[in-house]
Amino acid sequence: MKSTALKLLLCSVIATFSSGVLARGDAAAGQAKAKQVCAACHGENGDKPLQPEYPILAGQHVDYLAKALKDYKSGARKNAIMGAMAQPLTAKDISDVTAWFASQPGPLQVKR
Ligand code: HEC
Repeated sequence: MKSTALKLLLCSVIATFSSGVLARGDAAAGQAKAKQVCAACHGENGDKPLQPEYPILAGQHVDYLAKALKDYKSGARKNAIMGAMAQPLTAKDISDVTAWFASQPGPLQVKR
């Protein structure tokens, strides 16, 4: 009895911590957002931007993308276009959209 309760407690502790550490966005929701907003410049998959000055996002590290978006939003990274694009994004939007772009194959990945 006692050990079952302990196991349950351990499981819930592990679940709590791992969900925090491994917090991943919902790539499907991110795809919908990307299609709506980001595709006009970066392309829906982020691998073929429409202009050379729009960066490739596909396959970029999720942390890098999230930091860039948070910095545009806060003004720490200054760019008129992306500042305006990042402003309406919620924390969930950022984790979803970065999960989507990071999961897409593209030329930023090292070929093995
Ligand atoms: C009107 C065109 C346009 C749209 C729409 C747009 N972007 Fe951008 N994006 C840019 C430009 C231009 C840059 C380069 C800005 C700079 O030099 O900092 C950029 C840069 C970025 C970067 C930084 C990339 C890097 O390598 O540092 C990220 C991340 C990003 N955009 C994500 C998004 C997301 C997510 C959306 C949709 C919510 C979006 N962008 C919509 C034009 C756009």
